[in-house]
Amino acid sequence: MITIISATNRPNSNTLKVAQKYSQLMEKQGVKSELLSLESLPHDFIFTDMYGKRSDNFQQLLDKCIIPAQKFAIVVPEYNGSYAGILKSFLDAIPPEINKGKKVVLIGVSSGRAGNIRGLDHLTSVLHHLGMHVHPNKLPISSVLSMIDSDGNLVDEKTLLVLENQTIEFLKW
Ligand SMILES: Cc1cc2nc3c(=O)[nH]c(=O)nc-3n(C[C@H](O)[C@H](O)[C@H](O)COP(=O)(O)O)c2cc1C
Repeated sequence: MITIISATNRPNSNTLKVAQKYSQLMEKQGVKSELLSLESLPHDFIFTDMYGKRSDNFQQLLDKCIIPAQKFAIVVPEYNGSYAGILKSFLDAIPPEINKGKKVVLIGVSSGRAGNIRGLDHLTSVLHHLGMHVHPNKLPISSVLSMIDSDGNLVDEKTLLVLENQTIEFLKW
């Protein structure tokens, strides 16, 4: 099973729009995935689910989206030159052995010019520390605001093509 993670809790994020498109592109390849938006995390999880504590709500989320997943596609917005703090807190709340050896593909999203390439590298270091395998094709999407139409759909043709190619490589991997 594959889980796509939209790695922000910001409402109406462009990251979630890219993650939804990724889900559609995987479906086009005949693969159904789970989509986890970090907006759906229990709001108090950084107190109820850190350092060995576990709430029912958080456990249910792990049981549905994290434990059964063999692969993850993580869509990662650029916040202050890196990935969002909510993602690090989420990773810190999960026992590392759950994800050891699993495969991850990364997509960066920014309104600026860098496509969060630096944040993807920061995140790669952390995922390697957790014993996860990161696909070498890391995809930065820069200037995302110019690629999304008024209905919230990612419509830039070149970006759609590279995203689709990445899903094909990821599914073969
Ligand atoms: C807290 C915060 C920090 C941000 N820092 C950067 C940044 O360093 N560089 C950049 O290009 N965009 C930055 N942005 C803009 C986001 O990259 C932009 O909103 C993009 O759409 C991805 O974020 P989103 O998924 O929340 O929409 C920042 C946005 C927020 C909310």
